[in-house]
Amino acid sequence: MMQLTLTLALALLAVLYPLGGQALEWKLNAYDGPDLGRQLAVHLAPSTPTKVQEAAARGVISRVIGLRSYSQLFQVAVSKEMAPRTFKISLLDNGRILLAGWDGVCVCKAFHYYLKYVLNKDVDWFKMRIELPTNLQMPNVTIESTSGSPIMYHQNVCTWSYSFAWWGFDQWRRHIDWMALMGISLTIAPVQEAIWTEVYTEMGLTQEEIDGHLAGPAFQAWQRMGNIRGWAGPLKPKWMHFQLLLQQEILAAQRNLGMSVALPAFAGHVPRALSRLHPNSTFAEVQRWNSFPDRYCCGLFVEPTEPLFQQIARSFLSRVVATYGTNHIFFCDPFNELEPPVAKPEYMRSTAAAIHESMREVDPQAIWLLQGWMFVKNPFWTTDMAEAFLTAVPLGRILVLDLQSEQFPQYELTRSYFGQPFVWCMLHNFGGTLGMFGSAKLINSGIEVARRMPNSSWVGTGITPEGINQNYVMYSLTLERGWSSSSLDLDSWFRNFALTRYGVQDERLEQAWLLLKNSVYSFRGLQKMRGQYVVTRRPSFNQDPFTWYNSSDVLEAWHLLLSARAIIPLEDDRYEVYEHDLVDISRQYLQISADQLYVNLKSAYRKRQVTRFEYLSAKLLQLLDDMELILASGRNFLLGSWLEQAKRVAPAPEELSNFEFNARNQITAWGPDGQILDYACKQWSGLVRDYYRPRWRLFLEDVTVALHSQRPFNGTAFKEKVSHKIELPFSNSRDIYPVDPVGQTWFISQNLFQTWKALTKDSQFLHNNRLLVPQKLPAH
Ligand SMILES: *[C@@H]1O[C@H](CO)[C@@H](O)[C@H](O)[C@H]1NC(C)=O
Ligand SMILES: *[C@@H]1O[C@H](CO)[C@@H](O)[C@H](O)[C@H]1NC(C)=O
Ligand SMILES: *[C@@H]1O[C@H](CO)[C@@H](O)[C@H](O)[C@H]1NC(C)=O
Ligand SMILES: *[C@@H]1O[C@H](CO)[C@@H](O)[C@H](O)[C@H]1NC(C)=O
Ligand SMILES: *[C@@H]1O[C@H](CO)[C@@H](O)[C@H](O)[C@H]1NC(C)=O
Repeated sequence: MMQLTLTLALALLAVLYPLGGQALEWKLNAYDGPDLGRQLAVHLAPSTPTKVQEAAARGVISRVIGLRSYSQLFQVAVSKEMAPRTFKISLLDNGRILLAGWDGVCVCKAFHYYLKYVLNKDVDWFKMRIELPTNLQMPNVTIESTSGSPIMYHQNVCTWSYSFAWWGFDQWRRHIDWMALMGISLTIAPVQEAIWTEVYTEMGLTQEEIDGHLAGPAFQAWQRMGNIRGWAGPLKPKWMHFQLLLQQEILAAQRNLGMSVALPAFAGHVPRALSRLHPNSTFAEVQRWNSFPDRYCCGLFVEPTEPLFQQIARSFLSRVVATYGTNHIFFCDPFNELEPPVAKPEYMRSTAAAIHESMREVDPQAIWLLQGWMFVKNPFWTTDMAEAFLTAVPLGRILVLDLQSEQFPQYELTRSYFGQPFVWCMLHNFGGTLGMFGSAKLINSGIEVARRMPNSSWVGTGITPEGINQNYVMYSLTLERGWSSSSLDLDSWFRNFALTRYGVQDERLEQAWLLLKNSVYSFRGLQKMRGQYVVTRRPSFNQDPFTWYNSSDVLEAWHLLLSARAIIPLEDDRYEVYEHDLVDISRQYLQISADQLYVNLKSAYRKRQVTRFEYLSAKLLQLLDDMELILASGRNFLLGSWLEQAKRVAPAPEELSNFEFNARNQITAWGPDGQILDYACKQWSGLVRDYYRPRWRLFLEDVTVALHSQRPFNGTAFKEKVSHKIELPFSNSRDIYPVDPVGQTWFISQNLFQTWKALTKDSQFLHNNRLLVPQKLPAH
């Protein structure tokens, strides 16, 4: 019966999303990067009719500038006659601008180009609505442009938990609009829990066994990858169903624009209970991840060469395709932060071949999208092992995301993935933490290095942040650099960023952004940037905060931003964008100042200088109060928003407390006992007041007592105390936080600037500039 229903569903889907179109016949030589890329772009493009794509692009543009402005000023056309990934802008006799593109995404990219580089206005994640002046005369420009990146990719499996966990379709639509404006052509759709529930139930698992496997709503990414199981669950059927419907809506919106979406495949991770039903199959026990206790870790891994693997894969994947359609690309990562059970090239070869075969069986044109993360700094993956794995599948049937190319590129170590196409990706952010940083120069040069490397199989550019909503400038830069066929002039790019962000040309604003470019956005070291600053880390004397820039550059940028207040246009809500940046830069300078205070506190403790220690303690607590104050004034820096969103999407009243627990635990303890404590920390109002500050206060008090009593400070005792008094209880608290900002940002920021600019000249500071360390440089 099930089989019959499935066949019917597939037949129906074949009408909606024809599978058969062109046979997949690569005309390839090994290492034929750009050509391979163009073929891939065409192969992956959904067969959405051009009229549908035009309507979708019109929808995007109308949501950004309003329907009236759209109909007065623009016209769109999608034409498959154009070269792939190309747009053309021209002025029509009726005075409107014609945005023509190879697909809906290219039309949207054309619109963004015109908006930013002709009309001097830009969007960002928080600002997707642009007010154009009435009676605008559209300048006559003719621009034709083909993406330098045949493939442009966005998203990381973790983004779905760190940033998208509570989103409804309204937020998604804004984000998809943004993706289209940036020219993104490929993304992922990981939602799969309702389908797994069906598969496991059919196989004979009990509800209890399934509940013990699926992790809670804020932790699905890691359960999907096999890292954890059951933590913060169970998932209610209603929630799983809601998520499935949402995923379908997202997919439709993306495909209507011509975007291609990779769907989840089966990597081998299954509930432990499955061994009860299949005692004769070979399972490997997945190794413990980040000290998670037995109850939440160590699921089972079915060997891909086992018949059981193919059986589960078929059952799962055919449902995935029936539920979501297919763009002939599937993702799965059998060994993400997990060691393969056997260290032999033959094992890797047969494993990869079996996984790809399971995809091909359901979709003969399947391409496997693979995160190259497993190769990063992992001694297990010798050249032989990587080669065996990657070449087990025909050329062009694996597409690798070189996941953190700006810091740890792998394409050189793997000889351009042995000819398999790869995408150069900026990962940039871990855990969605705040803190200004980035590597502008490396992005600009790195994409070129990958493309020009001898025998390169580079096919595109992507962004793979674990969390978004921070450092927008870096994502904007990477995606524009990805579209561009050559390197950018970074200084003029940053000047233009300031112009299009605030809607006014001003030397101070440009200087501010150039200072940021040359300081916070000039990181090129090998240290792992995990957003763990003194403010947000558990207090101890074991920290070594550092910077790669002179903090006086940030201070000066802050000063310049503050001084430009009077000229920021109120039109088009530009002042709100300005206020956002003021909050962020104030936060950043306080964050660095806390690092500086800490270095001095540590020296005062070592030298047993009680008075100095007490003086600096008071300063640090004051700093945390000030940070709370400025963050509370910013709409995008509120704990309340995160918690209320989580509660809003809880499918039933009795689910509220677990959804809130998920939201709180992910950004603090990350696990039952602080397993990955503060990994996804957030410098948000509410969290500073009720979590970071109390923690520091407890620490400073304990150390002060120890200093007075001339006893050593007991770090072990403190860890236990802070864990039980502050860190773990925070996940269970139900306190309510504001979702609206409080206070006037500019005045607060100006005040803080006056207070904190003098800090490093304070006579209690004996270790000025100790934070600045020379950078160890990567290969290029
Ligand atoms: C726009 O400029 C181009 C090139 O200068 C010219 O050929 C075209 O006629 C102009 N279009 C309009 C509508 O003015
Ligand atoms: C497992 O193998 C044993 C011995 O060959 C056999 O008796 C048993 O029926 C098998 N069990 C299952 C579930 O296939
Ligand atoms: C590039 O590929 C060719 C043909 O396979 C090979 O002869 C050459 O050594 C390769 N060059 C590099 C730098 O790997
Ligand atoms: C940081 O910049 C300031 C102002 O330009 C300068 O006085 C100071 O010497 C610099 N510090 C370092 C360590 O370069
Ligand atoms: C520090 O505290 C721990 C835990 O409370 C305790 O076991 C240990 O003996 C203490 N160490 C010292 C040196 O007092």
